[in-house]
Order: sequence, then structure tokens, then C-alpha cells
Amino acid sequence: MAYEHIQVEIEPPIATVTLNRPKVLNALSPALMQEMTSALASLDGDETVRAVVLTGGPKVFAAGADIGDMADRSAVEQLTRDQTGRWGPLAGFTKPLIAAVNGYALGGGCEVALMCDLIVAGETARFGQPEINLGIIPGAGGTQRWPRTAGKHAAMEVMLTGAPVTAQRAYELGIVNKVVPAEMTIPLAKRFARQIAEKPPLAARLAKEAVLKAFEAPLAEGLASERKSFYFLFATDDQKEGMHAFLEKRKGVFKGR
Ligand code: CAA
Repeated sequence: MAYEHIQVEIEPPIATVTLNRPKVLNALSPALMQEMTSALASLDGDETVRAVVLTGGPKVFAAGADIGDMADRSAVEQLTRDQTGRWGPLAGFTKPLIAAVNGYALGGGCEVALMCDLIVAGETARFGQPEINLGIIPGAGGTQRWPRTAGKHAAMEVMLTGAPVTAQRAYELGIVNKVVPAEMTIPLAKRFARQIAEKPPLAARLAKEAVLKAFEAPLAEGLASERKSFYFLFATDDQKEGMHAFLEKRKGVFKGR
């Protein structure tokens, strides 16, 4: 399918989605987000794809929601069109999603990166929530995902000053998995994706679901849910293959069944 604001490259077993509105620093317009969520829905249903890399340009990942699109919106319009509620499919993507971030990841751009499961950052990357400078607050999960990962005080600093943090600081705060020279960001993210794509996909899906549950459910509920998924995986061919391959000292071949 042809897209105007993103590019999708499928190299089974991985795919790469690239934000592509460079003139406005990949500002996340409704049209771009519509394309991104529909591309991800299609990749979620594509059995040849087991992990996805989400990236932007060499100088900017995304500079946030499209300010031109929002500047004159009324509160009622924002509510009825549910601007950021429509980004939900990104957070609900069931396969491992790896952000490869170079340059600015600001506002909604930072929030999109935080919705991913791993983040690889180039040394030039900057993560921030500058919404306060516009008279608003983050609207796509920033106020919730920052403190859950980086803690209250770092989150407060980012939200209240609007100043971005460097890739290295983001790494120290636990927001980022690896910091690498900028030209290595996408190759390393793809390497993570290929490494994960070799794993049994049902186990990867349920591992992701279980970890995300830790942010949403009380411990007892999260543990009960984890146990159910653990037992459920014994109904899959991949569990039999994985355990027998181990016992037979060979590499498992996983089919997602
Ligand atoms: N929306 C729309 N257009 C944007 C944009 C955005 N978020 N960010 C940058 N642009 C546009 C600029 O208007 C400019 O357009 P023109 O060439 O037509 O003038 C072009 O992109 C290049 O931008 P700059 O000239 O500003 O580039 P710079 O290198 O000097 O600065 C920057 C880069 C620091 C990222 C700066 O562009 C900036 O501060 N952008 C806005 C960041 C921001 O406030 N993001 C939060 C948006 S609100 C949000 O995301 C809400 C939410 O939670 C969902």
C-alpha cells in the first residue's frame, strides 16, 4: 500500500516504519497518525513479520503533534475528534516494536517513542515534553509513561521545564536501551528486531503483554495474568519445539503455532 507521510519496508521477519514529513520535522498530523496506525494494524496481521522498527529521519524522530493543525482547535473539537485517543493502536500493537531515535523526539514524538517496547537512541537524540511552552500538557501518555519509567522527579523536570534531555541522560533514566553513534541507530534497532524475530512469536507477544500489565494492574492481578499466559503457552507447538530442541541440543524453529 502507498503512503504519503510514512514509508513501510517489509524485510521478513522484520519491518521498518519510517516517519516521512521532513519539512515539518515529522510533525504528527492526523493524516500521518492515521497512516501509521493503519500500517501497524496491517503489520500486526502479517504473519511474515515478527518485530517492527519505528524510526524518523536522521535529524529528527518527530517534533510532536502538528501545532499548525491544533492551534485554532476548540476544546470541543479536540474532544470529539479524540486526537490522541486515535493513537491507541500504536500502544496496542501486539508485536515487539523498537524505536530508533535520532535527533528530536519531542512532545507527541517522545510519547510515540515511549509507546515502543525498546528504544535505541543515536548520540544526537533529544527526548522532551515541551508542551508546557505551548500552554498545554502532553496528551498521548507522556505524563503517565515518563514517571512509570524515569520516576517522579525526572518526569516533573521534563514536564515543567519543557527542556529536553540528552540521549545519555535518557539512558541513565531508563528511557533508552542503548545509545550509539547516530549512523548505528537503525542498524542496531534492526539487529534487536531480528534477534527477537527468531523467538517464538506467541511467547514474545505474551511476554510483551505481561510486562505492559505491570504498569496497569496491581501485583496480584499481574502475577495471575502472567501465570495464565505461562500455562497457555504449553498449548502451543512452539513450546514443544522449544523444549525438545533444547533437549536435543539443536536450534528451535518456531512457527507461531
Ligand atoms: N508541528 C508543526 N510544525 C512543526 C513542528 C510541530 N510540532 N515542529 C516543527 N515544525 C515546523 C516549523 O514550524 C518549521 O516550519 P517552516 O519551515 O514552515 O517555518 C519547520 O518545522 C522547521 O522547524 P524549525 O525551524 O523550528 O526547526 P529548528 O531546527 O529551529 O527547531 C525544534 C527544531 C526545536 C524541534 C522546533 O521546531 C520545535 O520546538 N518544534 C516544536 C516542538 C513542540 O513543541 N512539540 C510539541 C507539540 S504539541 C504535542 O506534541 C502534544 C501532544 O502531546 C500530543
